[in-house]
Amino acid sequence: MRRILLVEDKRGMRAMLTTALEEDGWEVVGAENAPAALRAMSRGGFDAVLSDVCLPGEGSGLEVLAKTPPGVPVMLMTAYGTIDMAVEAMKSGARDFITKPFDLEELLDRLNRLYHAGGDEIIGDDPGLAAVLRRADAAAASDLNILVTGESGTGKELLVKRIHRMSRRSAGPLVPVNCAAIPRDLLEIEMFGAEKGAYTGATEARMGRFEMASGGTVFLDEIGDLELSLQGKLLRVLEGSPFTRVGGTVQIVSDARVVAASNRDLLVMAGEGRFRKDLYYRLSQFTIEIPPLRARKGDIPALAEHFLKGRGRLGSEALETLTLFDWPGNVRQLRNTLLKAAVLAGERDIVPEMLEIPVPRAGSTGLLLEEAARAAEMKAISEALERCGGNRSKAARLLGVSYRTLLNKLKASDPALPGAERRKD
Ligand SMILES: Nc1ncnc2c1ncn2[C@@H]1O[C@H](COP(=O)(O)OP(=O)(O)OP(=O)(O)O)[C@@H](O)[C@H]1O
Ligand SMILES: [Mg+2]
Repeated sequence: MRRILLVEDKRGMRAMLTTALEEDGWEVVGAENAPAALRAMSRGGFDAVLSDVCLPGEGSGLEVLAKTPPGVPVMLMTAYGTIDMAVEAMKSGARDFITKPFDLEELLDRLNRLYHAGGDEIIGDDPGLAAVLRRADAAAASDLNILVTGESGTGKELLVKRIHRMSRRSAGPLVPVNCAAIPRDLLEIEMFGAEKGAYTGATEARMGRFEMASGGTVFLDEIGDLELSLQGKLLRVLEGSPFTRVGGTVQIVSDARVVAASNRDLLVMAGEGRFRKDLYYRLSQFTIEIPPLRARKGDIPALAEHFLKGRGRLGSEALETLTLFDWPGNVRQLRNTLLKAAVLAGERDIVPEMLEIPVPRAGSTGLLLEEAARAAEMKAISEALERCGGNRSKAARLLGVSYRTLLNKLKASDPALPGAERRKD
């Protein structure tokens, strides 16, 4: 099992994270401060480290980071007001950082990506996905603003990372802003920075994400959640106008490229007056829509193999069940389903019941071509049998197949078919 060292001083937070990580398939070792973390680390055997930056007593998360063996990915958690420290941390080799309060799903997603070697790889060989990747690579080569749309869990964030990697800006930073997770006033500060004394508790000036992303890319995630008043400010920045930090007067111009993502239909929102149309057009100089997983089921076998690597084996019936389900939560739901199933299966092969998703009755969905073909075949056989009064030899002649073929097809099918004998096996 993969092991993670969790360094967090607040007991409640540590307990909550431990439960969530365990449910996600991690074995968790907790530490409440840097010395305890270093002691645990000296015993070795960790696949990842998740550490708070601010720790009481001796040493901070940066200390833990510095002592982590090379090759073990470290993700840092920071509270508001320590963004500069997070930048520092990334420079000292942290693979990722997340600002508190964070979305638990997002934290788990990101840790999983760090864990998988080359974790940002986009898996799948469905032609629908291949078309998306071609479009993304073309977009990356330009310097246009890009809007990535798609349902939740389709892989928008992964795609944005790929776009950044493939762009001329890959040597610069990719700086995320989650527009949904942060209250409006803080979001403005996150995006554009604040001068010392701009708000209560602002003891130091803070750089905004647009400034941090200079030479790189700003990733505006969940852009549909951005409030109208901030949409105006963002539009002016995208038009190249200088902006100021909150409470500041110095004019700043950002040269960051903007890639935005949304699982909402921004044009519909624009029609309802909840999203500025002019901003929509600015953001969507190039749009990429990721189709839902149910529209590219060809990706499922490769994704399943990827998520189960070293953790479990899928029986063939379970694979069929996976391809019949329509995955409202997309790839994220597929991943979570498989991780849970792998835990349930232990050393056994995964069977449909372990997936904890509805298991369709054979021949009942008509979703797969194979299923549809089988259903059509059974309909023809059933009609032929009816016309021949249940005489199978006659029905076989009518259908233009041998008696044996007809018998085999009947055996493989629903035993309740008119004219068919009950299955003997
Ligand atoms: N093609 C893929 N190959 C491998 N992993 C994938 C793929 N697509 C998605 N994932 C994984 O599924 C999870 C969700 O992906 P991601 O966070 O990119 O989705 P999203 O579209 O940004 O979702 P949301 O709208 O909820 O933010 C992540 O763990 C991600 O690594
Ligand atoms: Mg996302």
